Amino acid sequence: MNSITLINNDTFKIINTIPDNSIDLILTDPPYNLSQYSTGNIKLPWRSELNNDIAEWDKIEFSPELLVKDFLRILKPTGNIFAFTSYNLIGKWHQAFDKHFDTFQFMVWHKTNPTPKVFKAGFLNSCELIVCMWNKGHTWNFLGQNKMHNFIESPICMGKERLKNPKHPSQKPIKILKHIIKIASNEGDVVFDPFMGVGSTGVAALELKRNFIGIEINKEYFNASKKRLNNIQLSLF
Ligand SMILES: C[S@@+](CC[C@H](N)C(=O)[O-])C[C@H]1O[C@@H](n2cnc3c(N)ncnc32)[C@H](O)[C@@H]1O
Repeated sequence: MNSITLINNDTFKIINTIPDNSIDLILTDPPYNLSQYSTGNIKLPWRSELNNDIAEWDKIEFSPELLVKDFLRILKPTGNIFAFTSYNLIGKWHQAFDKHFDTFQFMVWHKTNPTPKVFKAGFLNSCELIVCMWNKGHTWNFLGQNKMHNFIESPICMGKERLKNPKHPSQKPIKILKHIIKIASNEGDVVFDPFMGVGSTGVAALELKRNFIGIEINKEYFNASKKRLNNIQLSLF
């Protein structure tokens, strides 16, 4: 059985307890700091509010630079880092991490069902960016030329997969997370998500026979992750 370690705390206070050279893949989805550009949720008379991803945790200033020292310390030399981010932070990720890695690339996730632009004044926000980085000798399972585009399509997380209570505004689809985990780690490896939300990275990791360590600051999301991951582990046993 693969192991799960879940921590309900502030990553910046607790990450120093993760041992050196112990992580094979950091796959994470930290705050985007996008709320400063948002006009808020849109109320419409004929349907439920359109979600513009306003969350309290997204209003706190987040800088990728704050993660460099610990990410370098805990990642094995064969490890990979993948982090979801947004247009406003991609330059900061590059500035903070590129100099420490042989390769810095990005993927685009195209959401096939983005929130509509009701006022038709601009593009739909249908793409999310995922930065990725590694050094020579990193774990890399090349899946075939046509499966290795740095572009992936999937709807946003919905239906049975989407948790209702609590509802997390940025729960990521398992399909995207599994695609990355398959490429960038092997069975038995340790996957780490220091901003785990409701534990989607953990679900994908366990279902692919990887071990998982997750940190989440919010008690409600943490409890939801714990329940979700324990259920997955029982169903796999
Ligand atoms: C974009 S969401 C991650 C969603 C996740 N990928 C999922 O599918 O559920 C970012 C998460 O980071 C958490 N967070 C923000 N600051 C944190 C911190 N300093 N330490 C730990 N978690 C934090 C938030 O509460 C939020 O749930």
